[in-house]
Amino acid sequence: MDHHVLSLLTISIFFFLTTSPLSHCQEEGTKFSLCSRPYTCGKVSNIYYPFWGQNRPSYCASTVQLKLNCEEPNQQTNFQLDSQNFTVLKIDALYETMRLVRTDIVYDDCSSDLTNTSLSSIFKFPETVHNVTVFYGCPSGFSFGERNFTCKNDRTQFGFYAEMTDELSAEFPELEQCELRIHVPIFREFSLVSDGGIDSLKEAASRGFDVYYSVTDGKKCRTCEESKGFCGSMEISKNQFACHCSDGSEDLECYAYSANHSSMFSYPCYIFVYISLVSYSIVRAWFSDYLKRVVRPKTWNTKHKFT
Ligand SMILES: *[C@@H]1O[C@H](CO)[C@@H](O)[C@H](O)[C@H]1NC(C)=O
Ligand SMILES: *[C@@H]1O[C@H](CO)[C@@H](O)[C@H](O)[C@H]1NC(C)=O
Ligand SMILES: *[C@@H]1O[C@H](CO)[C@@H](O)[C@H](O)[C@H]1NC(C)=O
Ligand SMILES: *[C@@H]1O[C@H](CO)[C@@H](O)[C@H](O)[C@H]1NC(C)=O
Repeated sequence: MDHHVLSLLTISIFFFLTTSPLSHCQEEGTKFSLCSRPYTCGKVSNIYYPFWGQNRPSYCASTVQLKLNCEEPNQQTNFQLDSQNFTVLKIDALYETMRLVRTDIVYDDCSSDLTNTSLSSIFKFPETVHNVTVFYGCPSGFSFGERNFTCKNDRTQFGFYAEMTDELSAEFPELEQCELRIHVPIFREFSLVSDGGIDSLKEAASRGFDVYYSVTDGKKCRTCEESKGFCGSMEISKNQFACHCSDGSEDLECYAYSANHSSMFSYPCYIFVYISLVSYSIVRAWFSDYLKRVVRPKTWNTKHKFT
């Protein structure tokens, strides 16, 4: 009986001393190692902060908004902002730009939910992108000519698009009577074929447009990276910046000593593990000594009694 109680006690002490600090170390190291891994989503690879999604947790990102969806079957990288869906064609971390294609709009389905592409304040359009305006439901017969198309859902309706200027708007007051207009961001360099109809617009839109993603914590992130940490956010308050270090998460940067440790198990964790191992050895030595002195003779006695 004593034998079992003692074994149990030893095992409990061993587990208490080793597993709790070990899992503690691993948990701290996990954020660091998970956020340090470049991430591939669909056809876009080498993605880091400020993005997350799929197997990259949100604490590796700056805001919940920058979540990428990686759809396996067609290898697409998707991104959703409010009710707008986008495909991400590329991400350039150096220039902090991403190339997006709006995928939830069919420009010649005039009954669909035709909305402007409206991005949140973290995005800005570069100079290389401009808007093409698509008009729907204009006064009978009014259009600019060749850049027009018949609505897919209603062959009696049509729309047209133009690169609008203030002069054009002033010259054609009829435009004010059009039921709906939307702005479609496209690359400025992409010239729309004048008699291309809807295909020319679709082609231009499918090339996507660039946006700058400006992360408000960009400066903090550089400080964090210089201290060998990986940028992210706090797990609970997602909008709070976090610097994930090899020994845990900090508000801004990793402590000096951890900067010199590239290992996942850093200094404080080593101490925990060391203490645990020493304690275990002591308990074990004491236990085998106890076994020799107390349990063995007892066993001998019982055996003798029964034989
Ligand atoms: C937008 O994307 C989401 C998730 O990928 C999907 O469930 C939804 O149906 C899409 N909406 C449109 C209008 O395409
Ligand atoms: C799109 O934006 C333009 C300019 O801001 C506005 O005139 C138009 O009504 C908007 N269209 C929709 C569908 O909201
Ligand atoms: C295009 O129009 C939208 C409004 O519909 C506006 O928010 C956006 O800044 C414009 N884009 C460019 C590149 O001017
Ligand atoms: C487009 O405009 C041209 C010239 O005004 C016209 O002949 C043609 O019927 C229009 N097409 C559509 C689909 O409205």
